[in-house]
Amino acid sequence: AVMVGRRVKSRRKWRGVVEILKELEEACDTPVGRLRQVVDAVAVEMHAGLASEGGSKLKMLLTFVHHLPIGTEKGTYYALHLGGTYFRILRVLLGGERSYLDVQDVERHPIPSHLMNSTSEVLFNFLAFSLERFIEKEGNGSSSSQRELAFTFSFPVKHSSISSGALIKWTKGFEISEMVGKDVAECLQGALNRRSLDMHVAALVNDTVGALSLGYYHDPDTVVAVVFGTGSNACYLERTDAIIKSQGLLTTSGSMVVNMEWGNFWSSHLPRTSYDIDLDAESSNPNDMGFEKMIGGLYLGDIVRRVILRMSQVSDIFGTTLSMLSEPYVLRTNSVSAMHEDDTPELQEVARILKDLGVSDVPLKVRKLVVKICDVVTRRAGRLAAAGIAGILKKIGRDGSGGITSVRSRSETQMQKRTVVAVEGGLYMNYTMFREYMEEALVEILGEEVSQYVVVKAMEDGSSIGSALLVASLQS
Ligand code: GLC
Repeated sequence: AVMVGRRVKSRRKWRGVVEILKELEEACDTPVGRLRQVVDAVAVEMHAGLASEGGSKLKMLLTFVHHLPIGTEKGTYYALHLGGTYFRILRVLLGGERSYLDVQDVERHPIPSHLMNSTSEVLFNFLAFSLERFIEKEGNGSSSSQRELAFTFSFPVKHSSISSGALIKWTKGFEISEMVGKDVAECLQGALNRRSLDMHVAALVNDTVGALSLGYYHDPDTVVAVVFGTGSNACYLERTDAIIKSQGLLTTSGSMVVNMEWGNFWSSHLPRTSYDIDLDAESSNPNDMGFEKMIGGLYLGDIVRRVILRMSQVSDIFGTTLSMLSEPYVLRTNSVSAMHEDDTPELQEVARILKDLGVSDVPLKVRKLVVKICDVVTRRAGRLAAAGIAGILKKIGRDGSGGITSVRSRSETQMQKRTVVAVEGGLYMNYTMFREYMEEALVEILGEEVSQYVVVKAMEDGSSIGSALLVASLQS
């Protein structure tokens, strides 16, 4: 009788788990109709953000980048990239033609976590120190003239020129409040001067804009760039006359790159779960960056963790001993991708990662359940990311809605042109399933025919290399 009782009880526990999974799947559902509503909302918000300051949750920030590098640039340039998880320093040598782009030295380090909530002085002293070390390695071989530096700063900035701008707010877990409102390029230049480093911060560049620059350098059909990394964001080339909020200010050229800060996009059509709501409430920036919190690499792991934690509260299938599952952000997105893509028959990678979280000896059935959760969360992310891209294409008339053949009576913008979307970021580069879901959904939304004109191109290290190219293009 005892045995039977136990079996009934454990079956009941599975039932609770199955219900949670079912609820999750329903809440994360993204049929193409829903994605199209998101596409429309993105395009509408883009218009609103361009029309007036504060007109939308999409900030649509001016970058003062009117010209992108074209391939004839020459010289040696440096880039420093402060991302969300890593910082990079590199040097490029350009020989005056596209094929002569030599990335001579690249350093990539994790950002020491204490810097994320230190002070601006500590942060910038650290960056200047790292640059100094980088330059010391060059020895005497390189020139003694002032070095031109691109600062790729992957946070929202209100620019006053291409080389100056104030931090609007931190994202991705950074919390140095005294820095908000300060000129970011000035902070770095000050730190460089304090170390007597003869370097000039020639441009302040969002990572998306760097990726666009590298994309354009190789292929002038590149008009959109997206970053899928710790955070997520996009920029694109806009006609200056469409940037209504800046009227009169922008007269130098016909177009400007606009940094959308799409991480802050919001629409009631987004499929939101109770996990998203809790994650947001407990984050360092509640009520902010809602879209980013559904697709950014910083967050996917934590959504998965929250689902598993919830299951472990109604059931003992994850064991009864205390695990680390209640600790925010212990489950990193690279672990999610490793579990999701575990192709061993017994799902040993899943077992290993769960064990590291203090959840040992889970049967195969439970490991499969975990893979399923990863799949649901990442599939939603990939599909929403695709809707974001399609929204931009719609805004600039490249989504095929004007017809795909070039009809004489139609205006040029309505014709379907080849459109390249440059994509960069660790999530996209390293998480195959995310990438596949994104690309699959893009075809679903645009249709087979139009998708043939839309090329998604990976830009490895594009954010940093491209920013250096941008600085080079300013000199010529
Ligand atoms: C965050 C930042 C944004 C950046 C993106 C990707 O969304 O606010 O500026 O481009 O992360 O790194």
